[in-house]
Amino acid sequence: MTDLGPIRAFLLCETPRAWVDWALQHPDILLIDHANCEKKAASTALNLMYRYVEHHALLNKLSRLAREELRHFEQVIAIMQTRGVAYPQLSASRYAGELRQKVRTHEPGRLVDTLLTGAIIEARSCERFAALVPVLDEELAGFYTSLLKSESRHFTDYLKLARELGSTQEVDARLPVLLEKERELIEAPDHESIRVDVTVPGEGVDFPYSARLVGTMEKSVEISLTVVVTSATTGDPIETATVTILDPTSGEAVSRLESRRPGGRFTMPAPSGRRRIRVSAAGYETWETDADLKPDEPEREIEAKLAPK
Ligand SMILES: [Fe+2]
Ligand SMILES: [Fe+2]
Repeated sequence: MTDLGPIRAFLLCETPRAWVDWALQHPDILLIDHANCEKKAASTALNLMYRYVEHHALLNKLSRLAREELRHFEQVIAIMQTRGVAYPQLSASRYAGELRQKVRTHEPGRLVDTLLTGAIIEARSCERFAALVPVLDEELAGFYTSLLKSESRHFTDYLKLARELGSTQEVDARLPVLLEKERELIEAPDHESIRVDVTVPGEGVDFPYSARLVGTMEKSVEISLTVVVTSATTGDPIETATVTILDPTSGEAVSRLESRRPGGRFTMPAPSGRRRIRVSAAGYETWETDADLKPDEPEREIEAKLAPK
């Protein structure tokens, strides 16, 4: 079993129990976010390899790391497939983005801070996996246990690289600043956007996966959504209604139209991604559906057939 002692000693706080509970209640999102984290971890390593070609040790370690992360990605999507979990676009959470805001913008500080941030994210990832193992089903517990060793080594690799490429004083000065920011992100309730990352899911909002460590998935784009509202019994248009688009994870409304529309055609802007569409109208039962609004489909039409009360 991987020794998590050094990782627990390194991080300033444990993953809150509320996050673990939330993850258990949303196993599909756990897997989707995990897949995204692995993919992003690989791409972050590759970016560093492009930017710092002069550091042989960095190229070597991060090349291996990127391969391992992609291998993890393949393992996660294989599990998703056997469990019938769809893979929708999820927009970025704030954990990695906010952590990276602390990274200095001038070299060589930028490199040292980026490596330290990598170490923190890998450490959190590992700590989270360990927190999940005792409560997951057998298959997932086995899978997450198998990841502990490599994620723990990624933590060590990033930290060693930071110490090799930066001075001791610099690392000792920067590490507490970055760790403190990370603690803040993990412990503060996040009422921001969608799902997965960091922190106690206040009202079921954000779900911090493995630290979402590195960041961020495809950005959400705005599309034009038309909801055609009709009566389920007569097929007649319902011209006065309220159409709300929600984030299905947080339950927060991201767009809303309360109006009268000829022909019952309600057209409104909507951020792409997994969305819940809710339609209510006087005299009818509230209607709801979940839809994957694809960023490459700029105009989308959905029919809402409302049952009379
Ligand atoms: Fe990984
Ligand atoms: Fe990793």
